[in-house]
Amino acid sequence: MNEEIEKIRQQALSELKQAQDAESIQELSVRYLGRKGRVTRFLRNISELPKEERPAAGKRANEVKTELESAFQDALAHLAEKQQEDEQAIDVSLPGRQPPLGTLHPITRTTRMIARIFERMGFGIAEGPEVESDYYNFEALNIPKNHPARDMQDTFYVSENIVLRTHTSPIQVRYMETHQPPVRIIAPGKVYRCDSDLTHTPMFNQVEGLLVDKNVSFGDLKGILTAFVHQVFDPQTSLRFRPSFFPFTEPSAEVDIRCVMCRGDGCRVCSDTGWLEVMGCGMVHPAVFENVGYDTDRYSGFAFGMGVERIAMLKYGINDIRMFFENDIRFLRQF
Ligand code: PHE
Repeated sequence: MNEEIEKIRQQALSELKQAQDAESIQELSVRYLGRKGRVTRFLRNISELPKEERPAAGKRANEVKTELESAFQDALAHLAEKQQEDEQAIDVSLPGRQPPLGTLHPITRTTRMIARIFERMGFGIAEGPEVESDYYNFEALNIPKNHPARDMQDTFYVSENIVLRTHTSPIQVRYMETHQPPVRIIAPGKVYRCDSDLTHTPMFNQVEGLLVDKNVSFGDLKGILTAFVHQVFDPQTSLRFRPSFFPFTEPSAEVDIRCVMCRGDGCRVCSDTGWLEVMGCGMVHPAVFENVGYDTDRYSGFAFGMGVERIAMLKYGINDIRMFFENDIRFLRQF
């Protein structure tokens, strides 16, 4: 009779091996361990066995019952685990999902474009600190103590002698202090002025330029800046150098270009003048050369400074400077 329980066990285990899904395992469990299951029935019928066989048969049948219970349970658990794995598996036949790509900020693009043009003309890149001393931002650039540029209205003072640089020109001084001529650099960077409207933000970007060598003339300045403007805008763009004043250049000029919107007829962008101011420039003032220890008899040079936002606004036809800093994706995506 004990043979019978072994047979039941064998059959149950081999059927379990064949079972492919939870349903058939469930069904097996009922068929063997259910109320009318084969193991249950065997246990119930033990009383019909010869008396001396009963204890051993009962013990064995109970062992088989426990063994099968856990075998069915394990099989179910294993199946559930496998199913979960399958759900997480990678479907290599699916087309890939493109991650959203960012683009460079229009100001970064414009700065790089400006830098590339000057690099092609042999200029290197210099940098300087945004938190600057009064000396480099003003004094060394021949800007006297009572000059309006030092007014608290325009300048962010960190302390009495420390400011947020109001222009990139201090980099000229820092560079000349540490390098001997010939000098041919541009210096891009953020600058700060306490000003805010359609065309001004408290922080904006400038690109400074400085060239010092023997026999540098205003004609060289005009040539370089004309070549620059013709590469940024239309190669036919006319320029004019309008006399101006900066304490650190003499003579000084503002560079105007023919209005890119109306081509000179007069419009809102150029305030009906037909011209757009794009940068300041001039021949480096001898006082600046003296401050950095350059021999003013041997060397001459020119400098220029432009606002990157302004160049970008004119190039891309943007009329509100604040668009650059609002981080509106719909605006930034267009570049
Ligand atoms: N630093 C001047 C400004 O911010 C621009 C400039 C640079 C003018 C170099 C002349 C020479 O307005």
